[in-house]
Amino acid sequence: MTSYRITLLAGDGIGPEIMAVAVAVLKAVAPQFGLTFDFTSALMGGAAIDATGDPLPPETLVTCRQSDAVLLAAIGGYKWDNLPRHLRPETGLLGLRAGLGLFANLRPAQILPQLIDASSLKPEIVSGVDIMVVRELTGGIYFGQPKGIFSTASGEKRGVNTMAYTESEIDRIGRVAFETARQRGKKLCSVDKANVLEVSQLWRDRINGLAQDYPDVELSHLYVDNAAMQLVRAPKQFDTIVTGNLFGDILSDAAAMLTGSIGMLPSASLGSAGPGVFEPVHGSAPDIAGQNKANPLAMVLSAAMMLRYGLHQPGPAQAIEQAVFTVLDQGKRTRDLMGPGMTLLGCQEMGQALLDVLN
Ligand code: NAD
Ligand code: IPM
Ligand code: MN
Repeated sequence: MTSYRITLLAGDGIGPEIMAVAVAVLKAVAPQFGLTFDFTSALMGGAAIDATGDPLPPETLVTCRQSDAVLLAAIGGYKWDNLPRHLRPETGLLGLRAGLGLFANLRPAQILPQLIDASSLKPEIVSGVDIMVVRELTGGIYFGQPKGIFSTASGEKRGVNTMAYTESEIDRIGRVAFETARQRGKKLCSVDKANVLEVSQLWRDRINGLAQDYPDVELSHLYVDNAAMQLVRAPKQFDTIVTGNLFGDILSDAAAMLTGSIGMLPSASLGSAGPGVFEPVHGSAPDIAGQNKANPLAMVLSAAMMLRYGLHQPGPAQAIEQAVFTVLDQGKRTRDLMGPGMTLLGCQEMGQALLDVLN
């Protein structure tokens, strides 16, 4: 029997609803593969602010560090939007990523045949799309110094963030991206704004330098504005995309809509050692929180990514992914994916449908 310690960060909004589904699914597959999970829940985001005044209490980081993997649902919401920046839920999430050294964020956007009609793009544009966005996660404009709101000599306020990357930061994410592309379609597109930004010029130079070590991977470059356009014009041209923190945030939400709903997209955040964090690409969806309307599949697929990338257990990962395909084959849909002839389910009922397939 192999046992894993998993930290659960349910967070805010729809977080607890979708986390409950993922935990039930993990409990269902575990015995079938000789695994046991030792789950520990910890506070994070708005829930942690309400309980402790801190969006990332030190004990949460300790619990995460002591575990084999971390499952995170989502954080944030209207209630905490006007707090000072250091007390915001989002600051807790950035602290978690930095604190665990999670510099590589893998965000797969794959269109499932069952969901072709759910995409806002034409079926012929999206059918067969299979993209992996490799987003740098602990650098760039999210973390660069100086940052803040400062007063100028004239007494006016000036907001500042700094987009900065060192050579070593670019190289380590670049290597993850080339290795990822090598396991996939052997095509890597690096996205930057090198026509305008010095930080992007260095990014491009370093990625070009790394290419010598990966002659089997075809490397291309796009400016981020063109990349956003190409993603919705002809997404099938992409295999693996590597980009910085902010561009990756934006492009992965755009890629989400190719697949029908942001409620379908999982992600894995990995460092060079220690536990990874596995979380949906979407946020806490405060507009539908507490209404049993959320799509839990991005969360469930994040649990599958945890098994595959964090715990090196491809068997149960595949079983979970297969259960998702089967439920979609049965025509079962949450509201975000609803279409003619489909059966509308709530979040909990979608969870039960997965359990019915798995048990
Ligand atoms: P969001 O992703 O929460 O929601 C955008 C839209 O997508 C909303 O209409 C929402 O209802 C819908 N949606 C999202 N996930 C869904 C799901 N699983 N099922 C059905 N519909 C879903 O983005 P937002 O509204 O810009 O942000 C809301 C809050 O979430 C903010 O506080 C933001 O900072 C936070 N956020 C957190 C994370 C995270 O925890 N990783 C990621 C993004 C945003
Ligand atoms: C994401 C989110 C976060 C980000 C926010 C909530 C800090 O949008 O995980 O995509 O910008 O990275
Ligand atoms: Mn985002």
